[in-house]
Amino acid sequence: MSQENTVQEIIRGEYVRQSQWMELIASENYQSRAVLEAQASVLANKYAEWYPGRRYYGGQEYTDQIEQLAIDKAKEVFRADHANVQALSGAAANLCIYAAWCEPGDTIIWMDLSHGWHLTHGAPVTFFSKVFNFVRYKTLPNGEIDYDQIEALAQEHHPKIILAWFSAYPRNIDYTRIAQIAEKVWAVALADMSHIGWFIAANLLPNPLDHGFHVMMTTTHKSLRWPRGALILTKWTPGNPLKKPEKTKENLPTIIDRSVFPGMQWGPHMNVIAGIAVALEEAQSEDFVSYAQQTLDNAKTMAEEFIQRWYQLVTWGTENHLVILDFSNKEYNGRDAEKTLDKIGISTSKSTIPDDPEPPFRPSGLRIGLPAMTTRWIKTTETKKIVDFIDRALINQSDDEYLATLHAEVIEMSKSFPLPT
Ligand SMILES: Cc1ncc(COP(=O)(O)O)c(C=O)c1O
Repeated sequence: MSQENTVQEIIRGEYVRQSQWMELIASENYQSRAVLEAQASVLANKYAEWYPGRRYYGGQEYTDQIEQLAIDKAKEVFRADHANVQALSGAAANLCIYAAWCEPGDTIIWMDLSHGWHLTHGAPVTFFSKVFNFVRYKTLPNGEIDYDQIEALAQEHHPKIILAWFSAYPRNIDYTRIAQIAEKVWAVALADMSHIGWFIAANLLPNPLDHGFHVMMTTTHKSLRWPRGALILTKWTPGNPLKKPEKTKENLPTIIDRSVFPGMQWGPHMNVIAGIAVALEEAQSEDFVSYAQQTLDNAKTMAEEFIQRWYQLVTWGTENHLVILDFSNKEYNGRDAEKTLDKIGISTSKSTIPDDPEPPFRPSGLRIGLPAMTTRWIKTTETKKIVDFIDRALINQSDDEYLATLHAEVIEMSKSFPLPT
């Protein structure tokens, strides 16, 4: 068997797995064929350092067009004054923003790990944490963010950045309050919208840039079902990237552009940028808002259905695409639940709960997200059916025969909701 065939077989295997399984990992989604094709195009062959109209190498007629198209559409879709579309991932984008505005040793205020965190917000295992000083805030027992704590920390530590939004927080945020705190201490208010980008674009959840935030970052491959990359969106338009700008908030677009290139990255992935441009066009179609609304409806239905079955939920419900089950009153943990659900063909991810007494690899919670299955157009009826599968699996964790029967039921239902073509 040739090497090429083996790779193709592996890809085919993953395709079959994705078609048969139910994807409930909150950060995953399915890209359309047109988006996948753009990434497999000849644009992958091209180096295009710097920005449209100012490239370092020649032969940039089409790369300039595609990147400008992506920038213009991103600005339109997110109602921003400027968009940088070159960051290679969410982690890279966050680092580029921190490096743009902070000096080594400066303080960034972010959410505590167990309360909804993402590692790229300065977890101790990251390189970021060696360079910057991260100070953490938490949520209150009622599930709300502790804004008074953010204010007190800001007064004490004079941060350069206050960071909002996370990977596992099912509620809305008072952006205005955080932006006002940031203003008082001359910090930049940064929103990492990676998980909820689609709902902001569809105008169903508030846009931080409309509420005093200075910078918004989003990965492009979660609720946004686009290629793997990131957008950095700002208020204000950039100046001449060749001239080092003064460090003012109005100059953030130029400062960030220069931090992405040449500060942190070199050749942008033009095929990915092409995929993002195609996806941004799709995001302006009629389906766009109905998909976003359906995802929110499905998540709400799922939360209500679990509550009816006496499950404990972090923040007792949801206002976005996430439901986080809290097993601290059960005999099993998030890792056990994730493994059991793997056996029936349902992908989920273990998750911490606020101030989790258990370690991150055996946390007390399970995070469930509805974006991917809603791309396959499940509605609330099917969402209830999925809760039933999960409930039955968790009740019968040690009965492999029962789990095998459930697995067959999952595959049967999954076949009725094909991947996008
Ligand atoms: C809130 C948040 N920010 C950043 C990232 C990092 O994105 P990437 O995997 O593209 O580096 C993630 C990924 O899970 C995330 O959830």
